[in-house]
Amino acid sequence: MVFYVKQGKMPATRHTYENKGKLLREELLGEESFEGSYSLLYHRNEPTRIKSIIEVEKKVPRFEFQKIHKLIDTAKVERGGNYINGRVPIVGNDNLIISVSKPSSETDLFFRHGVRDQLIFVHKGGGKFICTQGEIDFGTGDYILVPKGTLYKLQNLRNSVLLMVESRDSISIPQRYLNKYGQIKEGVPYYSRDIRPPILKSAKYGKGNYEVYVDFDDKYIVETREDHPFDLEGWDGYLYPFAINVRQMMPIVGKVHQPPPVHETFSTKSFMVGTFLPRKFDFHEKAVPISYYHSNVDTDEFLYYASGNFMSRKGISEGSITLHVRGMVHGPQPGSIERSIGKESTDEIAVMVESYDRLGMSQEAKTLENKNYMMTWYE
Ligand SMILES: [Fe+2]
Repeated sequence: MVFYVKQGKMPATRHTYENKGKLLREELLGEESFEGSYSLLYHRNEPTRIKSIIEVEKKVPRFEFQKIHKLIDTAKVERGGNYINGRVPIVGNDNLIISVSKPSSETDLFFRHGVRDQLIFVHKGGGKFICTQGEIDFGTGDYILVPKGTLYKLQNLRNSVLLMVESRDSISIPQRYLNKYGQIKEGVPYYSRDIRPPILKSAKYGKGNYEVYVDFDDKYIVETREDHPFDLEGWDGYLYPFAINVRQMMPIVGKVHQPPPVHETFSTKSFMVGTFLPRKFDFHEKAVPISYYHSNVDTDEFLYYASGNFMSRKGISEGSITLHVRGMVHGPQPGSIERSIGKESTDEIAVMVESYDRLGMSQEAKTLENKNYMMTWYE
């Protein structure tokens, strides 16, 4: 649930019609059967009208659990594919896939994830997210949260570098950030005003052959439709994709070092996504500004370093990923604590995924690995 949005034309009362000669086709797009967040979409055409359906093979990512910490350099991922087939899986498990995408081509194909919410972090570039419920212009530093079932396409991608989190569990604003009315509380890194829902443009008509790739994890189902999928006259409700930019977020800082949960941005049942933002360091006169050593025995910790100076880690640059596994302590490398003392601020931006389920590494990630990473704590 985000907040109520209403755009375009619709009958004054749900499940009724206004003009028998020009019926709108009402679709409920909802989570948790009829009990969760939902929106009511008013199509010009029947959304069930599909001319043909075929199955298309998909390369299924495989992940191998790790027993030591890993450093992966995604700057080496070559640009290729489009926003659908260009995803390069890096880390994941059955529930969660984290990929890097650097599309080299545009496509007219539409996309819908059949079984996963998607969270797209725009590391570089920008473009237009166009979905049934409208359009969102996006740029560097945006998160775009796309609920499963959202039919969309990405266009005008300008040398974009995207980090994509795909989850079978619903991704949402952390429950603890909401008051009993569903409004985002004070004391939280962002506010309702920072959230950008899609803006509905005029409905698209015209017959054609519109192909929608539906991702079912093991295969794509490709629907061909003769009516344009973006045919909404109006919609209202609480379930829709939205964007929020890290520059709008306010970091929480303390007198001494704050743990990662204060940087939480989104949550699911099995993992949380946090954002490390540019911030002032701790203001205790003897504060150690960087992290202490930690053994988090129930979580694996993924970090994607987007920009800035990553003071606590050696050998890290933009696009680096660290995977710190449970069962093994980690923390600052030799000399980092000494170098950090007296520093007043950081300009780093990094995306964290802390997972209660174990995270594995893909075959693709193995080719990007720095095999010397474990020894950086000994040098
Ligand atoms: Fe950590």
